[in-house]
Amino acid sequence: MRYVQVVSSALSLATYALAQEGEVASKVVCDAATKICYSSYSDAGSGMTFGIALPKNVTAPYDAIIKITAPVENTWVGFAWGGQMVWNPLTVAWANGKSATVSARFAFSMGLPQGYDGAEHILLKGTTTNTTHWTVNALCKGCTGWLTNEELAYSLNGTGTTQFAWAYGNSAVEDPASNTSAFNVHAAFGHWIHDLNAARIDNFESLVKSNLLTAPIAAPAPSTIVTSVVPSATNKPANAVIPASCAGVGNPAFQSNLASGWKATKIAGGLTSPRSIQFDTAGNMLVVQAGKGISYHAMGADGCTTSTKMLVTLNSLNHGIAMSPDGKTLYASSMTQAFSWPYDAAAGTVGTRTTIITGMFNGGSHLTRTLAVAPNLPNLLVVSHGSNANIDTASADKKTARAIIKVFDLSKLPSGGYNYVSGGWNAGYGQRNDVGITFDNNNMLWGVENSADDIKRNGKDVHTNNPSEKIHYMGDVSKPNDAWYGYPTCLTVWQPSDFTDKQFQVGDWFVQSPSGSTTDENCKAQAVAPKLTLMPHSAPIDLKFDPDNTNLYITYHGSWNRSPTTGFKVVQVAIQKGADGNYTPVAPLTSTTGAVDIFWNPAVEKCQGNGPSFSSGCFRPAGLAFDKQARLYMTSDISSNGELWVLGKA
Ligand SMILES: *[C@@H]1O[C@H](CO)[C@@H](O)[C@H](O)[C@H]1NC(C)=O
Ligand SMILES: *[C@@H]1O[C@H](CO)[C@@H](O)[C@H](O)[C@H]1NC(C)=O
Ligand SMILES: *[C@@H]1O[C@H](CO)[C@@H](O)[C@H](O)[C@H]1NC(C)=O
Ligand SMILES: *[C@@H]1O[C@H](CO)[C@@H](O)[C@H](O)[C@H]1NC(C)=O
Repeated sequence: MRYVQVVSSALSLATYALAQEGEVASKVVCDAATKICYSSYSDAGSGMTFGIALPKNVTAPYDAIIKITAPVENTWVGFAWGGQMVWNPLTVAWANGKSATVSARFAFSMGLPQGYDGAEHILLKGTTTNTTHWTVNALCKGCTGWLTNEELAYSLNGTGTTQFAWAYGNSAVEDPASNTSAFNVHAAFGHWIHDLNAARIDNFESLVKSNLLTAPIAAPAPSTIVTSVVPSATNKPANAVIPASCAGVGNPAFQSNLASGWKATKIAGGLTSPRSIQFDTAGNMLVVQAGKGISYHAMGADGCTTSTKMLVTLNSLNHGIAMSPDGKTLYASSMTQAFSWPYDAAAGTVGTRTTIITGMFNGGSHLTRTLAVAPNLPNLLVVSHGSNANIDTASADKKTARAIIKVFDLSKLPSGGYNYVSGGWNAGYGQRNDVGITFDNNNMLWGVENSADDIKRNGKDVHTNNPSEKIHYMGDVSKPNDAWYGYPTCLTVWQPSDFTDKQFQVGDWFVQSPSGSTTDENCKAQAVAPKLTLMPHSAPIDLKFDPDNTNLYITYHGSWNRSPTTGFKVVQVAIQKGADGNYTPVAPLTSTTGAVDIFWNPAVEKCQGNGPSFSSGCFRPAGLAFDKQARLYMTSDISSNGELWVLGKA
């Protein structure tokens, strides 16, 4: 699967500097009505215009006026102050009756950009909607500077040039009157080089004053949440293990179906993109909320939460969390770094943060860095790092340290932390994006891989039902594992009938264009086969064994690049212990039925998997964790109303 392409895939500060070297595409345009002159860029293809006006004095922090004009078909437009979707202030605007709404947003990861309190917009005269176009004209305080992913202050050079980016959508925003409205994924995006020096105008302050709207701006209307609920198939009386309901959590946002004998109960709502779950040694549940931090949920004996608070507030955290087996050290990751904190489970507090890993890739299309601690070797932290693109050719060299899993000995932590690329040792490479990693009861490492999009065989499109997502076995992490798991060259067949040049079986290796030494046969000789293949485009992002390792549970986050949509469910894979004492799936590699549905959306083809969407129309399984009573907890990371669920046998 693929997350939405980042508007510009390289995100580093170096890129901001480089971007300034391109050809300037803006010119000065003055508006007769407001008397404001803008440094203005018109995008011919989309019919949109973006104007910026700045004060003469651009010593940071400084304000800006932004004017966006767009055809009414563009139901929302985003303007990225740092020239990319993630990690910069976004001005997002849309038509609202005869006026328009403007919203300050920030995408801390791939998902619906959240409200951003570091910037504030004040609508100015010239904000209108007519039959063909809408225009937002607004003062922005806080748009020209921000903190980067690594908490460094960055501000736009107001006497230079910079790269900006636009995006627009063409499906209705959820609630046009509200500046906190959700909206759906963009239909198109682009970027250009803008002259900021030319945006500096005389009388900035007085022009702002003379163009303030006198009429009060309507208060945002509350946004609505879909609450249609169908009773699940298993409507049996409450069982001691899984609560029938939890007080005060509200109805589930979406309908769901359950496998026979199973029960699922929503235990919390209103979370911000909840991702991975970690239980502490006292039974409290910690949840990474992407773009927000880590929340702490004290749990009752009934499996419901009894209280909730924020444990760590840190916008850069987006997925990874782990804990030392003694429960005294908490770990979490951002796109580029991993951190540790001394942790007190009973008090629900952390001590001072230490940066333990730096230098993970800044940008690309896979931004999460999943963490796990080896249960038997508590000094070993395992960190999974995906590729930086659909096909990241350079990652074929394990030294790039992408599409790889690495292990770091924290008992030998260098001052300032390990560099991800040069430090540690490998636990396998050539895994495109193993977002889920976990250990079995033999302390052996497993992972679940998100495989590639847009795949062809000798030019023939085979992407709808190939390649397979996969379950990988990496094994013992105490020693370097330099085995190659196939990516970016070798992919796995799911639907053999799509291949016309050769007879394949499910689970066979294939290359896109056989030639020279790039052959299916060489894949077989050189790459470690998966343990089991999974439905293409399912986007599996977590896997956990049940306590006795008879089943593996996997969240399918849901597809991006497949029509009809697939995924959006939790599946179960039966596991057995072989004669050699190793665990392995019961189903053979040639099977496509090794994963069975446990908890799923009734009409998956209606779920929207393509990136930031205002609701997805579906619950969206993300993280999993078992508590000590063997209850399976799950996050659903719908951006605007994330939920926690508990699942178990009824
Ligand atoms: C520009 O603004 C900064 C910060 O507000 C101030 O310190 C500085 O004196 C100003 N410069 C001029 C030339 O007005
Ligand atoms: C929405 O508008 C209110 C009132 O102007 C403002 O305080 C808030 O920051 C805005 N929120 C966003 C996300 O722009
Ligand atoms: C609608 O607004 C656009 C953009 O300001 C303008 O170019 C156009 O002439 C307007 N159309 C009408 C009918 O007023
Ligand atoms: C801002 O850009 C101008 C023009 O390129 C350049 O002369 C100046 O050094 C830059 N300022 C900073 C702080 O980089």
